[in-house]
Amino acid sequence: MQPVGVGIIGCGNVLRRYMATKFPAMKIVSCFDQNPDRARRASDQYGFSSVPSAECLLADPAVEIVLNLTPPSVHASVSLAAARAGKHVYSEKPLGVSREEGAAVLQAACDRGVRVGCAPDSFLSDGMQTARSLIDEGAIGRPVGFTAFMLEPGHEYWHPDPEIFYQPGGGPMFDMGPYYLTALVTLLGQPARVFGLTTTSAGERTVRSQARSGQTIPVLTPDHVTGIIEFEQGATGAIMTSFAAWHSPHPPLTIFGTEGTLAVPDPNRFDGGVQLSRRDQAWSDVPPRTATGHGRGIGLAEMAVAIRSGRPHRASGELAFCVLDMIQGFYDSCASGVAHRPVPCPSPEVMRRLEV
Ligand SMILES: NC(=O)c1ccc[n+]([C@@H]2O[C@H](COP(=O)([O-])OP(=O)(O)OC[C@H]3O[C@@H](n4cnc5c(N)ncnc54)[C@H](O)[C@@H]3O)[C@@H](O)[C@H]2O)c1
Repeated sequence: MQPVGVGIIGCGNVLRRYMATKFPAMKIVSCFDQNPDRARRASDQYGFSSVPSAECLLADPAVEIVLNLTPPSVHASVSLAAARAGKHVYSEKPLGVSREEGAAVLQAACDRGVRVGCAPDSFLSDGMQTARSLIDEGAIGRPVGFTAFMLEPGHEYWHPDPEIFYQPGGGPMFDMGPYYLTALVTLLGQPARVFGLTTTSAGERTVRSQARSGQTIPVLTPDHVTGIIEFEQGATGAIMTSFAAWHSPHPPLTIFGTEGTLAVPDPNRFDGGVQLSRRDQAWSDVPPRTATGHGRGIGLAEMAVAIRSGRPHRASGELAFCVLDMIQGFYDSCASGVAHRPVPCPSPEVMRRLEV
């Protein structure tokens, strides 16, 4: 298979994670960052060329997919430009910072006949696929409930430029919710209704990481967001996301069924196994059903293979749009007091087998 050419827009902190695994299905052609030093550094470090403008990158016929690694507030504008230039686009999460932005990206891609892919891709990890197989096999009976917890003190403790996570379209639910919600949709199917509540713990934060330690940044979006979800198959539960919580004792994701309970690995990671407890039996580790060892970037690589073979890809824009719609639904319902009915999610059946 001829590798699919990828052009990267945005060469910040997350880039190194995409560079950690080499996938034969794709070849990085070039990169652009509005900060020329960052683009140059990436080019020196990883050996692809840097170009002086996004237009230049989009005009290159060797670039087939644009990998959008910019901050959330510009995801949609960068993805729209890529789609309008006739490029497939794979965006970091979220797809946009509002339902309207996400819908515009999908529409532009549809108009030009190009694909949209979007992180997270951790629902394709060995652990998550194993959890899905166990639920399908009835290992915990009929799923009845779930809990999902992402409780941390804040990204200013490790990220060199943390303000993007405290701007509208940031906050713990927009930033981290996609991992948990994508996993939940993978495991439990179509959401029927969502409700949400939000809190802001403080109006500003002090940067604690590296060079900018001591600087103050404003908090412009809630930093503690809770959602309640009812799935069409009947399961209900809560997702709590926070940048204002220290030392949480809560496990990341648990699914409760009529016959037992499944402890699912952290959806923000690719490692970690599944544990199962059936009725009055003790917890046991479940050996993974697959052992691909894939990491971040698998969704992009899988999209590259899907493009060449003409089949649908798994980490799709439609799935990301459903997740974005749920997230905005939490905020809408917090404001209105009325439940939100999410848009249709792609059938999880599509995501069960992984061919890369
Ligand atoms: N940092 C992580 O560990 C991590 C992990 C998972 C996902 N993500 C996601 O990846 C995305 C990027 O995060 P990051 O941590 O790398 O942020 P960052 O701020 O470190 O990097 C973003 C880069 O995009 C560039 N940029 C901004 N607007 C641009 C534009 N219009 N055109 C070209 N370049 C532009 C900035 O100059 C910067 O170099 C976010 O959506 C984030 O949620 C980050």
